[in-house]
Amino acid sequence: MKLNIAVLSGDGIGPEVTEQAVKALDAVAEYYLHDFVFKEALVGATAIEKTGTPLPKKTIAICKECDTVLFGAIGDPKFDNDPRTKIYPEQGLLGLRNELNLYANIRPVIVYNYLLNNSPLKPQNARGTNILIYRELSAGLFYGEKGFNENEQQAYDACTYTVAQIERIAHDAFKAAQGRKKKLTLVDKSNVLETSRLWRRTVMAMAKLYPNVAVELMYVDQAAAKIILNPKSFDVILTANLIGDFISEEASALVGSKGIMASASLGEKYSLFEPIHGSYPVATNKGIANPIGAILSAAMLLEHFNLLDEAEAIKRSITKAMELNLTTPDLNKQKPLSTEKIGDFIADYICNPDLTNFNIENIYLGQSTII
Ligand code: IPM
Ligand code: MN
Repeated sequence: MKLNIAVLSGDGIGPEVTEQAVKALDAVAEYYLHDFVFKEALVGATAIEKTGTPLPKKTIAICKECDTVLFGAIGDPKFDNDPRTKIYPEQGLLGLRNELNLYANIRPVIVYNYLLNNSPLKPQNARGTNILIYRELSAGLFYGEKGFNENEQQAYDACTYTVAQIERIAHDAFKAAQGRKKKLTLVDKSNVLETSRLWRRTVMAMAKLYPNVAVELMYVDQAAAKIILNPKSFDVILTANLIGDFISEEASALVGSKGIMASASLGEKYSLFEPIHGSYPVATNKGIANPIGAILSAAMLLEHFNLLDEAEAIKRSITKAMELNLTTPDLNKQKPLSTEKIGDFIADYICNPDLTNFNIENIYLGQSTII
């Protein structure tokens, strides 16, 4: 298959982790004989520095010309803590989601058995956690009318949802639940918010179309506690934009490191894949950033194009790295590997799937081969 992939590596650790994801995709292309063509484009603080805007027109054009987008990370402390800044890096990502009509942000939360001791939960509570979060990405508080009143003594952010906006992501979430444990939890604040009431009404009406999926309705405050107390009780979570931002970040804390969480942002026409972590500025270029979230995002990209064996090859390699305790310092304080070496191992293992003997010392020494 030929795939043109726009690569927007962005800020901070974005470029170094994205490089490892590209490496994994190159290995897949080599082993499974595909043609993946990468086209780089600027976004975020890096784009502001070079062009004055976080989302240059050229970047939007490249993303639209390509089949999909691989995204790194965004953000720079230079722009934080100044509430009067008019231009800031995050506008790059928010603008891109809007330009590409990406309405569903899908975040798998999987606790790997190899990382049970890295989870802040007791192993028996964390074990087996496998949640798929569907966060609405195109509307709600993020994109409602916002502003200050004239003397800046009051500000507002409007939250609006239409039935159509709820239905399109709810259909996706119901279908995903059908292929899993057949449970869908709608997380909202319908005891207070009108938009949440619309979510409930819409999703409950749709439930008839998916009779084999059990629908659970839960207030977000209750869900926030339950994700910690009993994460295994969730299968698919469906929720609005801001609630999904919080809930998915909370859930990411359970897996042992935020650095291993991946995501897909899908629209009718376009798609974008990114790790859920931020730009982690203090770690930039130190080789300590965990590339797994970025590499897993590449696996989600392949799944989106129905390259299932290929996606599985990446996932198998990631699991193998965890099994051999080949991980970055966030997961392995004693004998960590660098960002780049993790990427090398995973790419090598994709091309040598039958390998059973690993020369761990070679891997640490950065030899080009894992044999
Ligand atoms: C995320 C991020 C973004 C969001 C920021 C960077 C705008 O936190 O992808 O979750 O809030 O959507
Ligand atoms: Mn977030």
